[in-house]
Amino acid sequence: MGKGYFISIEGSDGSGKSTQIKLMKEYFASKGFEVVESREPGGTRIGEKVRNIILDNENVEMSPVTEALLYAASRAQHVTEVIRPCLKQGKVIICDRYIDSSIAYQGVGRGLGIDVVSKINSVAIQGIMPDLTVFFDIDPEVALNRKIEDGKADRLELEKLEFHKKVYKGYKQIASTNSRIKIIDASRSVMEIHKDVVNIIDEFLLKRSNGQSK
Ligand SMILES: Nc1ncnc2c1ncn2[C@@H]1O[C@H](COP(=O)(O)OP(=O)(O)OP(=O)(O)O)[C@@H](O)[C@H]1O
Ligand SMILES: [Mg+2]
Repeated sequence: MGKGYFISIEGSDGSGKSTQIKLMKEYFASKGFEVVESREPGGTRIGEKVRNIILDNENVEMSPVTEALLYAASRAQHVTEVIRPCLKQGKVIICDRYIDSSIAYQGVGRGLGIDVVSKINSVAIQGIMPDLTVFFDIDPEVALNRKIEDGKADRLELEKLEFHKKVYKGYKQIASTNSRIKIIDASRSVMEIHKDVVNIIDEFLLKRSNGQSK
């Protein structure tokens, strides 16, 4: 593996991932890094096709296992085509969602179980885990309301609140037991959150430059 860094961004729908990724990219660029932004599901031509199948409202009969396998399929292509090459080239790759999303959404939210989803993903990720994961911690109802206010979600999404609450519990569970995952209080203002993100990045870069792996 090269000298690049793989950073994944996690959090409920509307938790502010896209907003913060934009600022993160600028921060890394200002420090002289070549930075690539990507997302899952998607991030590759094939992955975007898989994304459309997953998110198609007509696919109501999709089973949770099928859903988990499709996310993993998109991920496998993404690792091969984008993440691994970026790391080899020494770039910073910031990915909007990665394996923790599958654990939280399919494993806990859909109830497949963390073990099953981890197994499904172990082939897909080809040994590549993020060097750092930032989890934007916010009550899923507050996050969904932000999206509704912005016109990017409708009231129907709020009806699925029980599901989103389960997902949030899943995130909290994996974040509290894994030092790779840094938790940020995402209920505050954009710039307050960004300040914390910058501190986490600085700490991460300092540790890496001192040769520590964690
Ligand atoms: N700290 C914040 N305070 C208030 N509103 C915010 C904050 N951060 C983002 N928003 C707004 O909340 C909405 C959702 O933010 P954003 O799109 O960044 O979240 P996301 O996690 O990427 O959502 P999605 O799951 O849809 O990709 C947007 O309208 C955004 O402008
Ligand atoms: Mg987003």
